[in-house]
Amino acid sequence: MPFDSNAMEKEVSVSGLTKIFGDGDTAVTAIANADLALVPGEFVSLLGPSGCGKTTLLRIIAGLEAPTEGAVEVRGQSIWNGKTRSTAATRPVSMMFQEPRLFPWFSVLDNVALPLRVARVDAKTRRERAARICETVGLKDFLHHRPTALSGGMRQRASLARALVTDPQVLLLDEPFGALDAMTRDSLNLELMQVCARAKVTTMLVTHSISEAAFLSDRVVVLAPRPARITDIIEMPFDRPRDLDLQQSTQFQSMVGRLRRALSEGA
Ligand SMILES: Nc1ncnc2c1ncn2[C@@H]1O[C@H](COP(=O)(O)OP(=O)(O)OP(=O)(O)O)[C@@H](O)[C@H]1O
Ligand SMILES: [Mg+2]
Repeated sequence: MPFDSNAMEKEVSVSGLTKIFGDGDTAVTAIANADLALVPGEFVSLLGPSGCGKTTLLRIIAGLEAPTEGAVEVRGQSIWNGKTRSTAATRPVSMMFQEPRLFPWFSVLDNVALPLRVARVDAKTRRERAARICETVGLKDFLHHRPTALSGGMRQRASLARALVTDPQVLLLDEPFGALDAMTRDSLNLELMQVCARAKVTTMLVTHSISEAAFLSDRVVVLAPRPARITDIIEMPFDRPRDLDLQQSTQFQSMVGRLRRALSEGA
């Protein structure tokens, strides 16, 4: 699928975005004048060195951090009006954090259902929807367990379920599976890809793994070290559905090489 983001409807649009933390001698420019647009259903990864502003970019899109300058729109609505967040504009957006952030005293089901409780969905519907999404991510047999009784991979599944339970149109994932072993990570990535495709959700993933970015994405955004500047946006020309065998192909390996060069050139 070609991504001429000017010609197509935009699901997420970031323009002239700058974020400066603090002021005077201690001011840190985390993002400098970034422009980026995602079309509906697109899967985009952000690849860049530590501290270059990836989390900050996601937090601004999610309405958790105000920009210093520039605009962010989701489905044509501004997330920020100066320092004021539009709650209505952030409604289609869901963010999954790097660390699971589950409440230890709640069951898996109650943790997953929490965003629905915040949205004042009735208890029966909450439970039904949370149970259904838990099943989708392979947690059917753990609904009544506490998070402490789960493995790291299962906790990340629960976090993913919680991010998906509101049927978001935009899903922001901040290194979701970074702390997991390679095999668990592969299988969660496959599931993530299937869930995102089925739900037609527009996804922005932060990762440090070049091959993960290449495997999952329609386009990979390469960022230079702080302040985050977009140095390259590279399309991943692999057909979908994709399976793990793709990673053995020479075409895949050459895209990984291209991304690695783009990263080191930006550094
Ligand atoms: N709340 C804050 N106050 C001050 N500085 C901050 C704040 N949040 C982030 N920064 C600074 O902004 C820069 C970008 O941080 P950010 O967390 O976005 O980087 P990142 O690309 O997500 O890094 P990593 O890959 O290590 O997660 C860093 O220099 C960081 O110190
Ligand atoms: Mg980060």
